[in-house]
Amino acid sequence: MKIRVPATSANLGPGFDSCGLALTLYLTIAIVSTSEAWRIDHELGKEIPDDKNNLIIQTALNLVPELKPHHLKMTCDIPAARGLGSSSAAIIAGIELANYLGKLNLSKEHKVTLAAKIEGHPDNVAPAVFGNFVVGAKLDEADFYVRHLFPTCEIIAYIPDHELLTSESRAVLPENLFYQEAVKASAISNVLIAAILQNDMPLAGEMMERDMWHERYRAKLIPDLQHIRSLTKSLGAYAACLSGAGPTILIFSSRTVADTIVEKLQIEYGQQGKIIKLGVEGSGSEVLND
Ligand code: HSE
Repeated sequence: MKIRVPATSANLGPGFDSCGLALTLYLTIAIVSTSEAWRIDHELGKEIPDDKNNLIIQTALNLVPELKPHHLKMTCDIPAARGLGSSSAAIIAGIELANYLGKLNLSKEHKVTLAAKIEGHPDNVAPAVFGNFVVGAKLDEADFYVRHLFPTCEIIAYIPDHELLTSESRAVLPENLFYQEAVKASAISNVLIAAILQNDMPLAGEMMERDMWHERYRAKLIPDLQHIRSLTKSLGAYAACLSGAGPTILIFSSRTVADTIVEKLQIEYGQQGKIIKLGVEGSGSEVLND
């Protein structure tokens, strides 16, 4: 039995802490057997615990403390601390593990609510569970989610070799915005959503690049954003925006110009990171037979 959870990209510019898109990179856990003690084999290095202190196992045990220990094997092609939802994927994997082993029969909505409580915002965990594009609002009294198909387009990710912690990237955000500024920022977000619902990628792209909530504050941490934005725009891209808290940058384009964008980015940024094409992941987290 395997549990598979996709990577996710939060924000898409002005959808800050609310919008997210599931992408075709995965964290996968194979449930090998019961065991004397919890063990999770992986190749992510010594910093990631391989016993019951692992985030996946901790999340599962917080939900169902009496779960019997198992031997697990994890493979993960979601890079850590790059703005591609690796910690959300681990939390969802833990919830799926508890759900499967503890026979909890949780609905997708319930999984998202549990995960959003741990993460604090729903923009990564919701698409990681539902797949595709999700707009969410986590309020004190209730959570609200709407899933919709993302318009057909090419998605190119520039994933820098260096990490950026979300905490570091949130520390540069202001505590307050002026009322009139927030009204404008919200109008931009509203047009972004309407454009996505209408499959209008040129307009969605324009809104993505007009974010007023977070990108300009984070620009000093991700100085490449400005240049990548003008470079890819000049090649015909719809938009370039930060993936989550960064440092990954996502570029949205039509199929006709995607290969040229990849080639140019490869020339300018290939030494400092990876440039890959990703697809929209449509299923969300799943338990699969081997
Ligand atoms: N919306 C979050 C942020 C995503 O931009 O900080 C990262 O968890």
